[in-house]
Parts: sequence; structure tokens; C-alpha cells
Amino acid sequence: MIEIKNLTKQADNKLILRGIDLTIHKGETVAILGPNGAGKSTLLKVLASLIKPTSGLVTINGLKWKRNYLQIKKMIGYLPHSSLLYDHYSPIENLVFFGNIYGINDVEQRAVRLVKEVGLSFFLNEPVKNFSRGMIQRIAIARAIIHEPEVLLLDEPHTGLDQGAISILNNVIISMKEKGTTTLMVTHDFKQAAEICDRIIILKNGRIADDFYIENQNLGFVSKKYQLQVEGAS
Ligand SMILES: Nc1ncnc2c1ncn2[C@@H]1O[C@H](COP(=O)(O)OP(=O)(O)OP(=O)(O)O)[C@@H](O)[C@H]1O
Ligand SMILES: [Mg+2]
Repeated sequence: MIEIKNLTKQADNKLILRGIDLTIHKGETVAILGPNGAGKSTLLKVLASLIKPTSGLVTINGLKWKRNYLQIKKMIGYLPHSSLLYDHYSPIENLVFFGNIYGINDVEQRAVRLVKEVGLSFFLNEPVKNFSRGMIQRIAIARAIIHEPEVLLLDEPHTGLDQGAISILNNVIISMKEKGTTTLMVTHDFKQAAEICDRIIILKNGRIADDFYIENQNLGFVSKKYQLQVEGAS
């Protein structure tokens, strides 16, 4: 469970997050939608403890970042805009490296399985620097889940993926949900949001403009709500 209370973030005299109150329950798959510059990536970075909030409180499974840094770090899988991969390493070397940081068992076996799962077995030992954008994104996804995190924070995870990789990613998210993983996914892709998420949050100007649950993968409902909050008001 993620709990956020009265969270603000200020940078260069600009209020990026203007008082976010939010509770995400265990096992929920939540999409964060919103226009460019709304503060979506900033919110994810605060949750991943990459940046400090100006004020407010964040707890992950009841724990505060400040006091339980390593414990929370192990619980979280974070996929940022940039891949975080080492260019001159192969997919396997990258995954084993990150797996070892988290101290996971049977790391090589798991790395090979994940590379296969994201459809890159053929490129097991080739350096990542030779990969296309979509291939890098596939490995970046594998990196984010190498330690089987309880909480997944994904920043535009579908970007650059072909149809096959989109299905792979969606299946990964859905199967992790079945194991109880909580996913928070920033996206501009309403179709994917409607397909895999059970709750939608619309962020606008650093505030939550809407927060609702969806049923039956209702894309039309999501688009209508977004239009109302974001496009209609401009
Ligand atoms: N370190 C920083 N210093 C100053 N301003 C920042 C910093 N990081 C982000 N911002 C500003 O905060 C606002 C929100 O940025 P953020 O990256 O969170 O937006 P976003 O909702 O993820 O947008 P996008 O859809 O384009 O990815 C932007 O106006 C951005 O310029
Ligand atoms: Mg962003």
C-alpha cells in the first residue's frame, strides 16, 4: 500500500506538486494521466526516493523512506524514462548486476528467464549499446522487475514498444498483480491504461484533478473524463 499525505514539491521557485493526498491499495493497478508538465514523473521520482519532497509524507507498506531506506528499496521496482542500463554490458550482465545489488538468489537463472520473457533470448550476450530503442525498453522492464518488487513504478513503460512487446509488458503487469503487486503507471496511452488498470488518476498542474475506478476496460469513459478535466477546461 502507498500512502501520500499533503505532498508538495518545489523547485526553482516553482510548485510542481501542490498538495497530493492519495492512497493506493495493495494489488491495485493505477494509471496516472495528465498533460506534459503536470508533475507525473516528479511524483514517481518522489515515491522512488530519487528526489525529496518539499513537504508531506510518503509511506510504502506502512514504512517511511527516511527510516527504512534499504527495506523499501527492495520493495520497489522503478522504470524511469531513461533505461538505467550499462551500455557495454549484455542483457544478462545487466540483469545479473542489478539482481546482485538486491541480493536475489539464483540470479543468473532468473536473468535468463526474464530475457526470454521479454523476447530477447537471441541477443542474450550482445552489448546493449547495439540495441534499438524498443529492445532497450524491453530489457529495462526486465531490470525493473528482477527482484520481484511488491510495488512497481512505471514511467511511460509502453513508449517505443511494438505490439508484441506491449502484450508482453501487459502480461507481466497483470501476472504481477495476481501475485499482489501494486502498480503505479504514468502514461499518455489511454488504450493501455484502460486495458490493464483498474483505477485512473488525472494529474493537472501538480494536483489530482480526478480519481476514479474503471470497469470493463472502458476506454471511452477514460477519454471522456480526461477531456472534461484537461481539454475542456483549457
Ligand atoms: N529539477 C527540476 N527543476 C525545476 N523544474 C523542474 C524540475 N523537474 C521538473 N521540473 C518542472 O516540473 C514540471 C513537471 O515536470 P514532470 O517531469 O513531473 O512532468 P510530467 O507530468 O512527467 O510531464 P511529461 O508528460 O512531459 O513527461 C515541469 O514544468 C518541469 O519543467
Ligand atoms: Mg514525465
